[in-house]
Amino acid sequence: MRHLTIFGAGTIGGAIARALTDTGFIREDSLTLVEKRPERVENLQRQFPSADIQSEYPDDVRDVVFLTVKPQDAGELLKALNGRVDEQALVVSGMAGVLLEDLQRGLGHVRVVRVMTNTPLVVRQAFSVWIAGSGIREEEKRFVRDLLSVLGKEEEVTDENLLDVATAVSGSGPAYFFTFFQALVDAAESLGLSRVQAEQWVRWTALGAVHLWEDEKGDLQDMIQRVMSRGGTTEAALKDLPHDELHRMWKEAMCRAYARVQELSRGQS
Ligand SMILES: NC(=O)c1ccc[n+]([C@@H]2O[C@H](COP(=O)([O-])OP(=O)(O)OC[C@H]3O[C@@H](n4cnc5c(N)ncnc54)[C@H](OP(=O)(O)O)[C@@H]3O)[C@@H](O)[C@H]2O)c1
Repeated sequence: MRHLTIFGAGTIGGAIARALTDTGFIREDSLTLVEKRPERVENLQRQFPSADIQSEYPDDVRDVVFLTVKPQDAGELLKALNGRVDEQALVVSGMAGVLLEDLQRGLGHVRVVRVMTNTPLVVRQAFSVWIAGSGIREEEKRFVRDLLSVLGKEEEVTDENLLDVATAVSGSGPAYFFTFFQALVDAAESLGLSRVQAEQWVRWTALGAVHLWEDEKGDLQDMIQRVMSRGGTTEAALKDLPHDELHRMWKEAMCRAYARVQELSRGQS
């Protein structure tokens, strides 16, 4: 069984620890969590009673290491870890926009993987896009694939720019859907449903629609057409929507996310 150390046990790091220990992929007594925020430390001690919870950096950092602090805190973390990471350790960075080259240089360590995951990992439904750095061996790639499969779905890429694209599409993606769901819930409420009922109806409809799309992998325009009969309710709902405007708005939103992750790569906080 491997030892896992996570630096930054917030939303993402904490959820990775939960998923990997709940599934037995990592034993709780083989887990070290290094977290700066005092209230989080107390909470982690309650959540993971057999794990080693630290607020200081351990002297030797070995085996499997996750870096899940905010990109703005990367510089300080990499500096602190430089010289402490065992040569054989596998370092996985989950930080948006921090390049492989900067990770390797900052840590003084070559065995580095970058991953962009998303918050559905809390329910083990993450989508994680990852890239292996030059020092990663085939068996380490297999291990990363197995680990990320415990968190949900994964896809390996070989072009590092796609990690920034993933940040804009799938990393931030859940919030795009929640924004749309909020609008649908407000609309459903205006038709007389209670908030709770409106949320449940929208949630179950969204779940069904996504399952149908995943099952059929159909063309979206065909899937829309199947719901729509001439002179029917769906046609009445959709015909006057400003489709071009909606597409433009979402394209601009995603482009802003992409531009922001590139700013983070250049170290602009
Ligand atoms: N949230 C998302 O939806 C999402 C999706 C994909 C990827 N990510 C990536 O995942 C990473 C973590 O995001 P998050 O939302 O989980 O952030 P978060 O909830 O803020 O968790 C990071 C934690 O690390 C702590 N920390 C900061 N510097 C540290 C250090 N040197 N050593 C130990 N702990 C330290 C922070 O404490 P303080 O708050 O006191 O600094 C904070 O509690 C980010 O790099 C982000 O790009 C996030």
